[in-house]
Amino acid sequence: MTNSVWLSASLALLALALSFADAYDPSPLQDICVAVEEPKNALFVNGKFCKNPVLTTANDFLFSGLQVPRSTANPVGSTVTTVFVDQLPGLNTLGISMVRIDFGIGGLNPPHFHPRGSEILLVLEGTLYAGFVTSNQLNNTFFEKVLHPGDVFVFPFGMIHFQLNVGKTNAVAIAGLSSQNPGVTTVANDLFNAKPPISPEVLAKGFQVDEKLVETLQKKFWYDN
Ligand SMILES: *[C@@H]1O[C@H](CO)[C@@H](O)[C@H](O)[C@H]1NC(C)=O
Repeated sequence: MTNSVWLSASLALLALALSFADAYDPSPLQDICVAVEEPKNALFVNGKFCKNPVLTTANDFLFSGLQVPRSTANPVGSTVTTVFVDQLPGLNTLGISMVRIDFGIGGLNPPHFHPRGSEILLVLEGTLYAGFVTSNQLNNTFFEKVLHPGDVFVFPFGMIHFQLNVGKTNAVAIAGLSSQNPGVTTVANDLFNAKPPISPEVLAKGFQVDEKLVETLQKKFWYDN
């Protein structure tokens, strides 16, 4: 091998190694990889073990009950039912998942973001006011829309977004997410309900308010829907 061939081969190998080290929700490495908790005789892939394909059944790919409305009697008036890999093991390594969101009248899915996925939301019933805000690079631009049944709205990867029921009835939406485990960070809870608490000085400066207000917010009950 000449030096330059050797160098480019080394760089290619390094890039491959780095891509594995940084990987999340990679393209599937095999047809199926049903998540199992028991590591015996299992292959470790993407945070979950794969069930032996010979022992895999159709039920590993099934989640039932998403047609059932759930109570929204809680402080925010909305309830998210997740169908992530923890609820549907057959999603392991596939890079997708789903949620159902129920809204009571006036119910809010509070400002939050998904650290590992984009979201595409379909309104089935009711009227939702939804929006997301871009990052600093795009000047924190706010995109908002009132959505009706049949409307589909997209919340791009990592953007803070919300949905508020502005109709006179309950509302229901279904969303797909581009990760088997997209995660949820509810912005207010993350900052004001951090454990241990973030120093009020930090939050007071960060929000341009006085520390008393920060301490009041930190004492509130932050419901995690
Ligand atoms: C963001 O603001 C800067 C400075 O005012 C401007 O030059 C740029 O075009 C804006 N970008 C967007 C996406 O609005």
